[in-house]
Amino acid sequence: MALTIGVDIGGTKIAAGVVDDGGRIVAQCLRPTPADSPEHVADTIAEVVAELAAGHEIEAVGLGAAGFIDETRSVVRFAPNLAWREEPLQKKVSGLVGLPVVVENDANAMAWAEARFGAGRGESHVVCVTVGTGIGGGIVLEGSLYRGRWGMGAELGHMQVVPGGRPCGCGNLGCWEQYASGNALVAEARLLAEADPARAGRLLEIAGGTVADIEGPEVTDAAREGDPVALAAFASMADWLGQGMSDLAAVLDPGCFILGGGVSRAADLWIDRARESYARNLTGRGHRPVAEIRLAELGASAGLVGAADLARRR
Ligand code: BGC
Ligand code: NA
Ligand code: ZN
Repeated sequence: MALTIGVDIGGTKIAAGVVDDGGRIVAQCLRPTPADSPEHVADTIAEVVAELAAGHEIEAVGLGAAGFIDETRSVVRFAPNLAWREEPLQKKVSGLVGLPVVVENDANAMAWAEARFGAGRGESHVVCVTVGTGIGGGIVLEGSLYRGRWGMGAELGHMQVVPGGRPCGCGNLGCWEQYASGNALVAEARLLAEADPARAGRLLEIAGGTVADIEGPEVTDAAREGDPVALAAFASMADWLGQGMSDLAAVLDPGCFILGGGVSRAADLWIDRARESYARNLTGRGHRPVAEIRLAELGASAGLVGAADLARRR
């Protein structure tokens, strides 16, 4: 049976796996992402691919990357939260590994995996939102991944939801990912803690007393202990998420939404509120079905499974 390799290139980890045509992972490998240069990232990808390919017959490789990929699925043209600019990733990696390579947007890859093998199985219209450092988007319509004319569609995190709002890594102001991502959660918690340290007592205690040391895990732990500032930060993120999804429903009318990404691991803290905000903001409410908001099922391996499956269909 034909096997393909999928590689999910994250900000801190490169996760790779050999995947069969049923979306099952038959071998896996994990490395830290080199922080210094894009060149080293390509070298590390080539190393993990070589390691995995040694034991299997591999047909093609799919790479999932957090950025705007060109329509030939070769070049990372732009990455709002990473150093890639016009990065010819396909050429570099295929030159090193001697296999066909395609580059996919990370969230598109995840959406594809969830739509085919995960929470969206059997659904024809799926919108996937990944809540992590930024917000990623993936749209599967009538069984096909929607890429747009130039490969750059479904950049859902860069809808400008607040005129003149918080600056975004993409260069614009007020993007959705500045209000509803993991980074946004932390930013909001820090703002609130700075404004009213007494109210953020437990959160600051967990963070060792310094606002700048508040990160995602501190906000999550404090929220679990009932810290009002941490809870308010989650509530704000959930409200923004729900509102953004209601706007997406106005455009795309999906059968379901799938939420994934690192912040969805703590979804019990915020998903009900996001669902309420979605239903409250939905245009035409009362006169239309309310699409279900589900959690991703494939966890941290969704990106690599999707990239591998998309490489099979290249
Ligand atoms: C990028 C997307 C990416 C998402 C999640 C966004 O900032 O623009 O390309 O899919 O983050 O990593
Ligand atoms: Na996308
Ligand atoms: Zn942006």
